[in-house]
Amino acid sequence: MGKDRKPGCANPSLAEVAAARFSRRQALTGLGAGAAVLSTVGGLGTTIATRIASAAGASSSLTFIEPERILDGKHRVAPGYRATVLVRWGDPIVTGAPDFDPGRQTAAAQARQFGYNNDFIAYMPLPLGSQASDHGLLCVNNEYTLAHMMWPGFKNRGQAQDRLTRAQVEIEMQATGHSVVEVRRGKDGWRVVADSPYGRRITAMTPVSVSGPAAGHARMKTPADPSGTRVLGTVNNCGGGKTPWGTILICEENFHYYFGGAIADRDQASHYRRYGVKEKGLFGWRRFDDRFDLGIAPNEPNRFGWVVEYDPYDPNSVPVKRTALGRFMHEAAATWLDKSGRVVVYSGDDAVFQYLYRFVSDDVFDPETPARNRDLLDQGVLSVAQFADDGKVAWLPLVFGSGPLIAANGFASQADVVIEARRAAELLGATPMDRPEDVEVNPVTGRVYVMLSKNSKRSSGRADAVNPRGPNPYGHIVELLPPGLDGDRDHGAGAFGWEILLLAGDPRAAEADATYHTAVSDRGWLAAPDNCTFDRRGRLWIATDQGRHGKTKIPDGLYACDLDGEGRALTRFFFGCPRGAEMAGPEFTPDGRTLFVSVQHPADEKRSTFDRPSTRWPDFDPSLPPRPSVVAITKQDGGEIGD
Ligand code: FEO
Ligand code: CA
Ligand code: CA
Ligand code: CA
Repeated sequence: MGKDRKPGCANPSLAEVAAARFSRRQALTGLGAGAAVLSTVGGLGTTIATRIASAAGASSSLTFIEPERILDGKHRVAPGYRATVLVRWGDPIVTGAPDFDPGRQTAAAQARQFGYNNDFIAYMPLPLGSQASDHGLLCVNNEYTLAHMMWPGFKNRGQAQDRLTRAQVEIEMQATGHSVVEVRRGKDGWRVVADSPYGRRITAMTPVSVSGPAAGHARMKTPADPSGTRVLGTVNNCGGGKTPWGTILICEENFHYYFGGAIADRDQASHYRRYGVKEKGLFGWRRFDDRFDLGIAPNEPNRFGWVVEYDPYDPNSVPVKRTALGRFMHEAAATWLDKSGRVVVYSGDDAVFQYLYRFVSDDVFDPETPARNRDLLDQGVLSVAQFADDGKVAWLPLVFGSGPLIAANGFASQADVVIEARRAAELLGATPMDRPEDVEVNPVTGRVYVMLSKNSKRSSGRADAVNPRGPNPYGHIVELLPPGLDGDRDHGAGAFGWEILLLAGDPRAAEADATYHTAVSDRGWLAAPDNCTFDRRGRLWIATDQGRHGKTKIPDGLYACDLDGEGRALTRFFFGCPRGAEMAGPEFTPDGRTLFVSVQHPADEKRSTFDRPSTRWPDFDPSLPPRPSVVAITKQDGGEIGD
């Protein structure tokens, strides 16, 4: 690491630059640069570790004991806490839904049952506008389906795509999307409210309207929708967000997998390539539905990759694809009100060497007149992040007609800019990142946290200050500092500061070059940060997703750390997933006494199938497959989580 230098200039080494990006916070929090012992050998990790170790008595504000970290078929939570499965794939959530029967599943049943592979979770109190922490709606994304874990006879998802029946594809379409589940906490804990008037599924078959600059554009028109304003469905709904006016943002991530077939329109080929759309595809839905066939509906992929907004309190509301926020593999969408009252939305494009975006609305939020906020996300400025080694990040506007975003480069309108946001961002000089996953604003300080999952494709020669490891198999977390003091930061500013919070991986393994607070335990380090949230004290809770090719032998799970004071970056292990599962969707109730998490794709690992799953979590019933589920975590003494 220490020998890495920017090609062709005499800049300080990357280790020095990145070390500076670590150290500023330590100075601010009183650990004092004077206490630092700068190491000139051993790389960045050693340097920072040495600095932090010099602070005496470092400790975390988190009081829980770390549970055993074991990769097996069960979940585990910190002692003194209770983790209860609340809702599972197939559980009835809409009035009239039948009980789950894996041998006799139908699309009609699935359309009223909890979807597959739950991811993002929003808890929305009931009634609307209250802070109720014992009654609310869980608004949960159902990212994608795994045919070989849902039915017998398939070896893996790739093999299944050519063999699925029409009935199975129709079930997959209904198992994908989003679920609204009414939940209530009683003496016996949390339960799903049966026959709820709010119970709802949004699926790959739900009518969704389109708004913003791309609505009605020629590139949005298909044989089934000559208007270019009405899309059937939403897919690959990964992370999401909540708005100040009580709506939910659902993000469309890896939409490219759903399309396939002959690419007849050669003009589209390079555009498809940039978004990973291929003739082969992965889901095989096109065998039964023309809209996923590139030869028949070449514009259909342009209608996915957006942020979708809907009102969970109105089960008849029509979801809307908000195209002003740009089209890419949206991981999540975090909203914040700028000092001026404008709405700021942060969103990462989760693919290697893709970018971090920010949208700022033109109009201001009006708390008195909810109807005026309805279309706030349709007009505003989308920007992309360009990180400099000196600790500044510039927000570059993606505005048609400015800079390179002109006809000579194939952009004829703002519609072209948002549809091809990736190409526009590249032309502007955005910084390619190590898979930007969740982005969240700390509600206490207003600092912004970016989870960067990993990037095995980054060579050491392509490392830079903000992505300092090449390759980067374990990911890292970047902290953005909008100008101003904590609690009063300007999120609409053209430039922010940035620092690295931690470099993930095992800090005791030299090859990982990982960096945390030095007091991190053998159980407390993490790999592949994915989703995150904050508790009421502004501490960061991090969910991990190492993927099938993770290099560690640890389960995915949930970790927490302080962001200020002596416990900064001292991550602690709180919850472990069963094998094959990733952790997603962490969400607290307003009182901080319940934490909901998503256990996604349990048993999804090599050679594990419906017929021979590596775990039957959560039911452990030989007649039931493993089921993705939402888990509710509470403290046995009823107190706040983490305290
Ligand atoms: Fe669906 Fe980027 O995780
Ligand atoms: Ca994710
Ligand atoms: Ca989140
Ligand atoms: Ca993930």
